[in-house]
Amino acid sequence: MTRQGEPVIVGALTRADAERCAELEAVSFEGDDPWPAMAFERELASAGNHYVGARSAGTLIGYAGIARLGRQPPYEYEVHTICVDAAYHGRGIGRRLLNELLDFANGGVVFLEVRTDNAAAIALYRSVGFEQIGLRRRYYRVSGADAFTMRRDPGGARL
Ligand SMILES: CC(C)(COP(=O)(O)OP(=O)(O)OC[C@H]1O[C@@H](n2cnc3c(N)ncnc32)[C@H](O)[C@@H]1OP(=O)(O)O)[C@@H](O)C(=O)NCCC(=O)NCCS
Repeated sequence: MTRQGEPVIVGALTRADAERCAELEAVSFEGDDPWPAMAFERELASAGNHYVGARSAGTLIGYAGIARLGRQPPYEYEVHTICVDAAYHGRGIGRRLLNELLDFANGGVVFLEVRTDNAAAIALYRSVGFEQIGLRRRYYRVSGADAFTMRRDPGGARL
């Protein structure tokens, strides 16, 4: 259970959160190949990945992760996932999580893929300086939905 009046705290995501992530993922990405707990465990164990979680009253209500690509600088980065419990949408939590990922990228180029019909996520990404650079047809295997590739260059806008 979560309590709506509680402060939301953003911090490290750990292996112990994998099951809860999979729960949130199943609801938020239904029909789009949601990650099982094992996928989160793999992501958390992978060197160069950075994952953060948002908690309310001790319950995980959001998570986000980014990967650093390449073996030496200048690094590029790729947002792997970001998700907030629907009961907590529109309260600035997604923005806080994304800003944590951008802090990790430390001004490096960041890429991501987003469903072309995901207006909320696209607006969030644009607001921090991501721009659409490509269209990937049927990127999401199960639903067959298209994705935009977006890119944020060093010095992208930051709200
Ligand atoms: C995308 C997502 C993470 C946003 O999280 P959130 O906590 O609701 O977002 P925030 O409250 O931080 O809003 C940040 C910005 O996102 C945009 N935004 C959020 N909800 C929106 C909506 N319903 N319509 C349009 N823009 C929206 C706005 O630009 C907003 O900035 P503003 O409040 O200054 O206008 C959330 O909708 C989510 O988890 N969706 C399901 C999973 C998903 O689609 N993840 C992205 C995969 S690529």
